[in-house]
Amino acid sequence: MTRARAGTVRAVAHPNIALAKYWGKKPISGNIPAVPSLSVTLAGMATTTELTFDETLGADALTLNGEPARDDVLFRTVKLLDRVRALSGETRRANVVSRNDFPTASGLASSASGFAALALAATHAAGLELSAEDVALIARESSASAARSLFGGFAELDTDGHARAVAPPSQLDLRVLVCVTTEAKKTIGSTTGMIETAKKSLFYDAWLESAPRLYAEVKAALLARDFPRLGEVAETSALAMHGLAMAAGIVYFTPATTSALAEVRRIRAGGTPAYATIDAGPHVKVLVREKDREAVAARMKQVPGVLRILETQPGEGARIEAGPARAVSS
Ligand code: PMV
Repeated sequence: MTRARAGTVRAVAHPNIALAKYWGKKPISGNIPAVPSLSVTLAGMATTTELTFDETLGADALTLNGEPARDDVLFRTVKLLDRVRALSGETRRANVVSRNDFPTASGLASSASGFAALALAATHAAGLELSAEDVALIARESSASAARSLFGGFAELDTDGHARAVAPPSQLDLRVLVCVTTEAKKTIGSTTGMIETAKKSLFYDAWLESAPRLYAEVKAALLARDFPRLGEVAETSALAMHGLAMAAGIVYFTPATTSALAEVRRIRAGGTPAYATIDAGPHVKVLVREKDREAVAARMKQVPGVLRILETQPGEGARIEAGPARAVSS
């Protein structure tokens, strides 16, 4: 007889930051982006998720950073687990304990690393042997950007909802200085922000037309290892995304965001290639080469409203750290 044993699986995933942003979803089910995106997975920030399927549980449970998760986060987690159960035949509920070593739900891509780690832990614990591309499909339905965190280095997500690796971490001499401007949660979630933008922004059609071009330019610059070109287009992509959203009344910038952005531009005007990118939150991420990292970090630390700086670099994709006792025979 084969008896399932409650084995705990531990998965680790890093957030990723899009160098060519997606913003907006296709008006169909499946959480599929309206435009392609390309990101870098960031070692130096991580989500660690432990998951146990347990026959004694009546419902799925999620502890996030030491506390029971909010209802909306638990709901999204249960949805993902339901998809994994449907695929695998696993019937037990799961206990999930997840921890981020950086601010959660604040525009630092915690949902990307969170759902990547969850999808990997759940599929592994349920005994599914899937490729990273297939785990990414599961993660994407919960958080589209999470699909890219399954992969190390540089990854892309296309408008069919498929994510894949584009280049290894060593492709580019790149450091990402994450200038944290608040520890608070963001006020407008990305899904709401995207819905409002598609409904109200005057520039949405222009974005749908131009974002694929920005993505192609970022990819070409990456493959050519052209850092200044990549940085310039990445900054343009971020500013276009925020301009688009702002036109719909969705404003993620704070005074610290604009001060940090201005400082990056001053640094660049002084001859150091440094470029800014900003996601659905107030933090500014600065793209620099290793040789400029220290000097640029020292400058950014002086910016009013920058609380601290996380120094990150291209890292590995999501991975299993502790194997499960999947099933034992007795
Ligand atoms: O997929 P979400 O809900 O995590 O939204 C991601 C939105 C951006 O980070 C701003 C852009 C991107 O491509 O990651």
